[in-house]
Amino acid sequence: MAKICIALLSVLVAALTVSAYNRPNLPPGPYCGLPSADPCCKNRQDDCSHRILDSLCYCDEFCSRDRLHDDCCPDYEEVCLGVQPDPGFLVQPCIHNNKQYFPGDTRTDNCNICTCKITDEVRKTTEWECDRDACIISNDVVYGVNQPGMSWRAYNYTEFYGKKLKDGLVYKLGTLPLSRETRRMGSIRYDKDIPYPREFDARRRWPRFISPVVDQGWCGSDWAVVVAGVASDRFAIQSNGAENMVLSPQSLLSCNVRQQRGCHGGHIDVAWNFARSHGLVDEECFPYQAAVIRCPFHPKSTLVEDGCRPPVKQRTSRYKVGPPGKLTKEADIMYDIMESGPVHAVMTVYQDFFHYRDGVYRHSGHGDVTLQGLHSVRIVGWGEDRGDKYWIVANSWGPRWGENGYFRIVRGADEAGIESFVLTVLSDVTEANQK
Ligand SMILES: *[C@@H]1O[C@H](CO)[C@@H](O)[C@H](O)[C@H]1NC(C)=O
Repeated sequence: MAKICIALLSVLVAALTVSAYNRPNLPPGPYCGLPSADPCCKNRQDDCSHRILDSLCYCDEFCSRDRLHDDCCPDYEEVCLGVQPDPGFLVQPCIHNNKQYFPGDTRTDNCNICTCKITDEVRKTTEWECDRDACIISNDVVYGVNQPGMSWRAYNYTEFYGKKLKDGLVYKLGTLPLSRETRRMGSIRYDKDIPYPREFDARRRWPRFISPVVDQGWCGSDWAVVVAGVASDRFAIQSNGAENMVLSPQSLLSCNVRQQRGCHGGHIDVAWNFARSHGLVDEECFPYQAAVIRCPFHPKSTLVEDGCRPPVKQRTSRYKVGPPGKLTKEADIMYDIMESGPVHAVMTVYQDFFHYRDGVYRHSGHGDVTLQGLHSVRIVGWGEDRGDKYWIVANSWGPRWGENGYFRIVRGADEAGIESFVLTVLSDVTEANQK
């Protein structure tokens, strides 16, 4: 019993001795320590006081009449009672947005973490120390691009704010560098001398057959999304609607794992070869999940998998494509889209591209131009706007980004490399799937 009483008592004493005037969030002064005649006053003297924030603090004995009163100035104990202060207490705080922070406190500045650090142990000065990584969203781009005379506008996307650019280049893109053999792939030449329409939009030409914009999430799966998207569109177009389904990027992300890096990127030639030899299932039977989950199918199975929709007149649920071919000339790309549907393009993404809201994109030179990444996209058409020839392109960052998930980019000038590696799936998609 006695022991319990002593224990209780010491807890009580401890609680009471945490004096209220030692709270660290007050401006540290000096107050009682100011060079004046008699800084510490006897008994009660209401004018023995100093301004602190928007009230008063006191340096008279009355302010410490009991430990529960907190109207003593922060330096009363030290100056008037000779008590050694808590060492953290004399430190000058770091300031941000009129708020005080103490050593060890952190705050975020866009994608970087700032820590309040002591810079001088003797004078107890402090300073913010921040990581200095480039962030996806940059003031420089937002203000630099949104100037009169630019062909496109920039936007501060909340879902990108606070994220590092180097992470965005991994998890919002996902096309691994093309191998030398892939780059050397022979190109298809049509050289059709025909009058091309000023504007063409696959979504208007084949309104029911073009697959919706995907949101790849925080997963570098553009390679899977675009291969599945281009294949879906072409199945529907070439079968004139008989094979009108959306193909599953997840079946690539999860099942095409050899030589691929899942959400850390994929090789597009490997992905097209997989679509050719193993085929893809439909989206409903294996929905996109922005993560590499286990492949539920046997890679070589030729059966109809549970819940999957087989192609017309087929006894397998795999949709297979023909070999991809490369297109190098603007007119050949246009011809191919007009004849058989959207194509797969690889472009270079710079920091400014993440901010695209609407208009005709061209790399602006604002923001960081040293960091960049490769991105797979789906070109669905073209047009012209006040003298700017452009491509209409589906991105994979959801329908709230850009022009309902799409963007327009300068055509005919290899802007951001968009015309340097364009793939079509040969229009004889596989004999097996043709009617
Ligand atoms: C962007 O939005 C964030 C909040 O989402 C805001 O803190 C930041 O100041 C904005 N930046 C610019 C350049 O408008």
